Amino acid sequence: MRENFLWGGAIAAHQAEGEWQTDGKGISVADVLTSGNHKKKREITKGIIAGKNYPNHFGIDFYNTYQEDLKLFEEMGFNGFRTSIAWTRIFPNGDEAVPNEAGLQFYDDLFDSLIEKGMAPIITLSHFEMPYHLVEAYGGWRSKKVIDCFVRFAEVVFEHYKSKVKYWMTFNEINNMFNPEDEFFSFVTGGLQYQADENKQQVMYQASMNQLIASAKVVEIGKKICSDFEIGCMLAFIPVYPFSSHPEDVLLAQQEMRSRYFYLDVHVHGEVPNYTKRLWEREKIVIDLSEEELQTLKNGTVDYISISYYMSNTVSSRVLQDQASSYKSSANVVDNPYLTASDWGWQNDPTGLRYALNELYYRYRKPIMIVENGLGAFDDVSNKEAIVDDYRIAYLKNHIKAMKQAMDEDGVDVLGYTSWGPIDIVSAGTGEMKKRYGFIYVDQDDFGQGTKQRYKKKSFEWYKSVIQTNAETLI
Ligand code: BG6
Repeated sequence: MRENFLWGGAIAAHQAEGEWQTDGKGISVADVLTSGNHKKKREITKGIIAGKNYPNHFGIDFYNTYQEDLKLFEEMGFNGFRTSIAWTRIFPNGDEAVPNEAGLQFYDDLFDSLIEKGMAPIITLSHFEMPYHLVEAYGGWRSKKVIDCFVRFAEVVFEHYKSKVKYWMTFNEINNMFNPEDEFFSFVTGGLQYQADENKQQVMYQASMNQLIASAKVVEIGKKICSDFEIGCMLAFIPVYPFSSHPEDVLLAQQEMRSRYFYLDVHVHGEVPNYTKRLWEREKIVIDLSEEELQTLKNGTVDYISISYYMSNTVSSRVLQDQASSYKSSANVVDNPYLTASDWGWQNDPTGLRYALNELYYRYRKPIMIVENGLGAFDDVSNKEAIVDDYRIAYLKNHIKAMKQAMDEDGVDVLGYTSWGPIDIVSAGTGEMKKRYGFIYVDQDDFGQGTKQRYKKKSFEWYKSVIQTNAETLI
């Protein structure tokens, strides 16, 4: 294990801060998402509609409570903390020339508090919160205009926080844009809303390339601003297993992995992989990519890979015969009979984390940061002073163990581990508060009602001891 291994937690601005219009903040894509649940999708409204519940408007009020919340993280021994800079606090519409000073000030104060408490800020530039104006005016990432807007935003924050932040990542879960049939992820990752009669694959690949170019540009710029910066990419890393040893299943799993590897191949190798070029030719997809942009991809490769890891997927080439799955990231996904699932249908697979880390490290030879891992669960909160979340402890314990095995036994270079939602926050996928990940309970319901008081769950002391002992007590 690295000496300066980063132990901590991760949140995103839009899921925690609240104060969605305070100090000049503009409307982001997260602000037009209503609440949903496991069975009911979040609605994407056209602007804000009075009377609807928009949970990201209130978050957990972190904008006002962060001083107190950080004290609790400090008590657990965090030496790293991941959050995002809400783009709309800095550029409310996204295409302004001049940043909003009040927004810059908020993150100055937040980062100062983190540093003072011994936590390195680990910062995502874009975590499902692009300015909504960029969607309305330009159609989101389908337009190259948005590249310039993002680069300006990144340049401003790099300059402004260069003495405070070393670890950056460009786009959260960039690969979640890959499936145009997934309206939610298309919207939050790419600001994409498809027309019925357009070639969706073409739009998706153009938007993805635009984002990859933007990422490479800011890596290049960031390194010039501060050579000490470590700038990474961020993937939702769900390894795909074949349902059986049938060669068609094995081949299918390999091909499905390309929806993850396409982004990594560009981020890390700086070029579009052949399998994607062949697909573009086959499907008559024409991507607007200049020679200069291709060079940018080469110049702006990432320093490290960061991932979220929650589950694995299993695919079958005979999906109709084999049983389907409650969590579908593609049409071929079926339930893995060897795994159990969370209440939201995510199949728990700690061994899959070890497998994923090995696959990634020996394919790319870049250090890896696990910036999200955790269990969203219903907690029994009848006694707020004593919430017993043994299932969460078990989930995290098994995953941290698997990470340690990947490091100690397999030699994978892991930079750090920040568990997702160390304090309960609004779920990105469903907008619920009751899908809780925290070591700290927040007394608030799905409608923003409650005292908002914070309570330590049983897992609080457990995670503290994991950090104190560098996870030695786990094995
Ligand atoms: C990842 C996101 O997809 O998973 C987070 O980066 C999100 O923003 C996390 O919160 C867990 O998902 P959910 O839907 O349970 O909040």
